[in-house]
Amino acid sequence: MLIMEREMHNLFDRFQYNSRILKGERKALDPGFVPDRLPHRESEAEKIAEILVPSLSGQRPSNIIIFGKPGVGKTSVMQFVEREANRVIDTRFSLKLKIININCGVIDNPYGILLNIGNHLLGDWEDKLPFTGWPIDKLFNVVQEKIDNFGGIVIVVMDEIDRLVKKSGDGVLYQLLRINETSSAGKLSIIGISNDLRFTDYLDPRVKSRLIEETLVFPPYNATQIYDILRDRSLFSGILDSTDDSALQLCAAIAAQDQGDARRAIDLLRISVELAEMKQLEKINDDLIYEAKKKLERDIVTETISTLPLHSKIALLSIVLLDEIKRGTKTSMGEVYDLYCKATQRIGVSSLTPRRIADIVGELTNLGLVDSVVQSFGRYGRTTMISMNYDGDKIKELLMEDDSIGMLQDVKPSQKSLTES
Ligand SMILES: Nc1ncnc2c1ncn2[C@@H]1O[C@H](COP(=O)(O)OP(=O)(O)OP(=O)(O)O)[C@@H](O)[C@H]1O
Ligand SMILES: [Mg+2]
Repeated sequence: MLIMEREMHNLFDRFQYNSRILKGERKALDPGFVPDRLPHRESEAEKIAEILVPSLSGQRPSNIIIFGKPGVGKTSVMQFVEREANRVIDTRFSLKLKIININCGVIDNPYGILLNIGNHLLGDWEDKLPFTGWPIDKLFNVVQEKIDNFGGIVIVVMDEIDRLVKKSGDGVLYQLLRINETSSAGKLSIIGISNDLRFTDYLDPRVKSRLIEETLVFPPYNATQIYDILRDRSLFSGILDSTDDSALQLCAAIAAQDQGDARRAIDLLRISVELAEMKQLEKINDDLIYEAKKKLERDIVTETISTLPLHSKIALLSIVLLDEIKRGTKTSMGEVYDLYCKATQRIGVSSLTPRRIADIVGELTNLGLVDSVVQSFGRYGRTTMISMNYDGDKIKELLMEDDSIGMLQDVKPSQKSLTES
């Protein structure tokens, strides 16, 4: 009897996938999934293909920079174009064309970039290049030699190229772009993708003029477009029958308001499927989408806070603690700085300047964790007034997970600093 009961009830039952909701491919709701069809990005894919066409007859295609806010399909469209191009390459043996994809969010240093390109150009019989230790010039010379030996066109797709430039400067781009001027046999083109529209400000004019031969901007999606994307994904993952149309529309509307980000829409849908399965529901309705929205926001805040640098965490904690004491009235930058200094002293690190803390508060505002406005006090000047934009208790709890911050639980502002400001 006991055995039977054990067989009937399993600890994991509650978490088991409820087939009443999902009848197709679960992977269609995965963050990294690239579908065969990308609705509303057909013209962008065609435009890239058009620019790359000369490479099919041995000509170097123009370098391209692709811009667009997060989640507007840049990576997916590029992967789709690469897939299509590789299908052509696979059928035309005489075609000397190689496409190398590098995620500069992961590989953000010159050595890594050159190593990646070099390793893609090795013959089957050759050993991989050493992943560390060579002087960069030696590595570059080997890469240039490999490109020449290949004697065709190498297209290097650099996704999140802004991360490389911000982390390591544009030296390696300069070297790569100059290959076409110094090599005779092989040619190289770069396709750079970035969601930071200002990243080209960081480029040396010599790099900028060579790199930006063609520019493509992906606009944000509107609600109707996101709805179409979601419908496609629902169809493929087999949740369409168990999803209210109004829920899909709501999901699309929320994501459209949030910068037209398709990733956010798909995340919302995936989380609502998971919630439905957990609760053993048969339908995905509007309420579930709202619940998924709350969960997603909580997840994003958790991730954002855990990855903040120490001084940003201390500044944020100071704002939370002051908000607690002042019960809703705004906090001045002076008060924040004062408490921040007390906190840094307590844990034995030196304080940053008021200017840097003002920058940090600006960053926390951009992340949506706090609100700040500049308030004028007539002839007494102006100051930034700060308030919480999210549940203070929750933020404090997340900050306390950092051991150094845990020591600051009871740090208090001096009465003097509060009354003076
Ligand atoms: N037109 C589309 N059709 C179907 N799915 C799409 C479309 N556009 C984006 N997606 C999906 O949305 C998610 C985000 O897209 P993608 O990663 O391509 O965005 P991105 O522009 O590269 O964003 P980021 O700047 O953050 O890297 C992916 O899961 C992708 O499959
Ligand atoms: Mg991307």
